[in-house]
Amino acid sequence: MANLVLIGFMGSGKTTIGFRLARALKRKFIDTDSEIERLTGLTITRIFIKHGERRFRSEEELMVQKVVAGGNAIIATGGGVVLNPDNVRRLKENGIVIWLKADSREVANRIGRSRNRPMLRPRPDLDKIRQMLAAREKYYRDAADMVIDTKDKNHDQIVAEILKQI
Ligand code: S3P
Repeated sequence: MANLVLIGFMGSGKTTIGFRLARALKRKFIDTDSEIERLTGLTITRIFIKHGERRFRSEEELMVQKVVAGGNAIIATGGGVVLNPDNVRRLKENGIVIWLKADSREVANRIGRSRNRPMLRPRPDLDKIRQMLAAREKYYRDAADMVIDTKDKNHDQIVAEILKQI
């Protein structure tokens, strides 16, 4: 069976929704960032600080190759996974790609003062989030087989909508 792959900006709910979807469908849940942390023994933030974004992106590409292979999983990705066309191709070849669409205010609310978002260092701010969202929106749109607007919806509603559409 095809993987279900969640894409979207930081704070769009990929990990939480992915976990719940996996529970509802009794399928395996994989979070690429957590897998990278497990494999390297470093947090994502440490990887950025110690080795730089380039290194993180190459770990991410290797992880995408690895996790798509098994099929039948629910995969939550990092917010920048779509910037690499090879990732997009591999995710789409092996699964249904679902974009959890969130606007900048929701993202800012959800990630609050998170320190574990190296792309938003030193701290998340609305202007930076707006800028990055605008630059990335077309990548999410192009990669997506399905778009779920998360605005004003709780987790249960988002999961229900995905289950209805797959
Ligand atoms: C990133 C998003 C993060 C993580 C890394 C880079 C990005 O994942 O992969 O910090 O470029 O948007 P989340 O979307 O789970 O925060």
